Amino acid sequence: MCGIIGYIGNRTAVPILLDGLRRLEYRGYDSAGVATLADGKLEVRKRTGRIANLAELIQQSPPAGTVGISHTRWATHGGVTDANAHPHTDQSGKLVLCHNGVIENYATLRDQLTREGHTFHSQTDTEVLAHLIGKHFDTAGGEPTRARLVEAVRNALKQCVGTYGILVLHRDVPDAIVGARRGSPLVLGLGKGENFFASDVSAIVAHTREAIYLKDYDIAALGRDEFEITSLLGGASGFEVSKVEFTEEDVSKGDFAHYMLKEIYEQPHTIQDALRGRLSREEATAKLGGLDMTPNELRAIDRIILTGCGTACHAALCGEYIIEALAHVPVEVEYASEFRYRNLPLPKDTLVFVISQSGETADTLAALRESQRKGLRTLGICNNVGSTIARESDGGVYMHAGVEIGVAATKSFTSQVTILALIGLLLGRIRHLSTSEGLRIIDELEALPGKVERILALDSHIAAIAKKYAHSQAMMFLGRQFNYPVALEGALKMKEISYIHASGHPSAELKHGVIALITADLPTVVVAPEDSVLEKNISNIEEVKARKGPIIAIGTEGCTKLEKISDAFIPIPACSDYLAPVLTAIPLQLLAYHTALHLGCDVDKPRNLAKSVTVE
Ligand code: F6R
Repeated sequence: MCGIIGYIGNRTAVPILLDGLRRLEYRGYDSAGVATLADGKLEVRKRTGRIANLAELIQQSPPAGTVGISHTRWATHGGVTDANAHPHTDQSGKLVLCHNGVIENYATLRDQLTREGHTFHSQTDTEVLAHLIGKHFDTAGGEPTRARLVEAVRNALKQCVGTYGILVLHRDVPDAIVGARRGSPLVLGLGKGENFFASDVSAIVAHTREAIYLKDYDIAALGRDEFEITSLLGGASGFEVSKVEFTEEDVSKGDFAHYMLKEIYEQPHTIQDALRGRLSREEATAKLGGLDMTPNELRAIDRIILTGCGTACHAALCGEYIIEALAHVPVEVEYASEFRYRNLPLPKDTLVFVISQSGETADTLAALRESQRKGLRTLGICNNVGSTIARESDGGVYMHAGVEIGVAATKSFTSQVTILALIGLLLGRIRHLSTSEGLRIIDELEALPGKVERILALDSHIAAIAKKYAHSQAMMFLGRQFNYPVALEGALKMKEISYIHASGHPSAELKHGVIALITADLPTVVVAPEDSVLEKNISNIEEVKARKGPIIAIGTEGCTKLEKISDAFIPIPACSDYLAPVLTAIPLQLLAYHTALHLGCDVDKPRNLAKSVTVE
């Protein structure tokens, strides 16, 4: 949700900033801008649309300078216009600011500044913050030092309610960029004779592998060879230098046409990586040291809450079915955006898992904090190492899925479900599951990557089905039991990248209303592997067919009765019912991908969306 990158060093800033923006474009792509400082002059270029538009503008008149800040926007306050694009300047025109987040009290601050004579040129909350910092800088008086700029940032932020990851550059303080965060991620990258700020390390991994993940309320002043991190309340703030594990290659598309396709194809490996080192045949269980809980503590848990947003919430729903089936512990799923404002009864032996690929989703982070406020042990299931949720949770399990850049989540979903199955196995084995049952589950988990490979081999078959139905006005997705959440996820994938309206339902709910939608023009995708509800799913398919609705079925290889009654059939390898979501989700990801491709949609950057929703 907005990407920011700053550079201070000895190289020309603009190519580094543009390259970083391209890597951050998945966070927002409504407009983009850069500001550099050269020979005592600030140069600002900004433009609506993709980074390519900004690059074109820059080519016409390239700004010089070895210090600069830049931004790619996902609009919150104010429409998508050149004027609303970042960076924004203050009243004096000497200070520029990029911002990720929302300043909630911006209207009050703006009114006050207007009364004091400030003039605003945009509708954004960010411009108000730029003016506020500029005002504090100007009224402080004295030499224009780095310390004075830091103090101005500190005093302004103390007046702000909301979230921010900001970068500030001042014409009269040419040897520094000041960054600060609260609620929106900001990373400091350390180089030799040069340093970086970015909202995500993927933007700077080509230049450095040493990063400091700033904490909420940190203010960092960055020079070419040095930096200083203080807290909003004053005084030094502790930090840790982390080694960035992934490489530049990991954040490139390689030979794939899109990040989404690359990430779909990575799943045999990412599922393997979610399992790696976590299965013990000796004890026939899962080993999840990151939970940091003894068997007795785990045994005392009598209720689990799983929370997250979007795809992560669909994985949580799969987790509800899996953990209840394997461990017989009651599980409840709440959207994080609901959890944060509910006052749920939370008995003390409740364990909460917050699930988030990015580890930065604002609602999920708020749910984590609310749960901790109520005294509950709250664990994270995150992909992004060092993310805020990973750092603030009381323990957890990393997905190890590698960077996910495609805006539509794919590999993170299957990793999340795999990890929830590991949790089910662990909790089941310290309750009622026998050694042989534990070993059977381990066998089934270990067989998943090979089965995923076989599904990926059906890519061209799925592409042909997608082509046939791509011009449908709407689609319905049905699934039952373990595959009901997969139907929700399939519908979400279809909607977000192809813009075809799609809705997911428990199969048997069809007759309670949604059957009214069925016509010969509305395809229904039914997720119906061989399990205890196959016959029930087949009856629902018959109901759709009786009304001339076309059926695309995802079923088990060799299930001829399903294949016969379907207009299109996508076979998946046989597997136990509780692990089926890891397999059945994959044809739906490919179906959405090929549909979007056929319709000419921008698969990796769908309309109105951004990866990592760091605003409420
Ligand atoms: C859907 C999608 C979103 C995310 C949601 C949570 O394809 O990507 O629904 O799943 O915004 O994001 P994380 O997992 O980063 O918290």
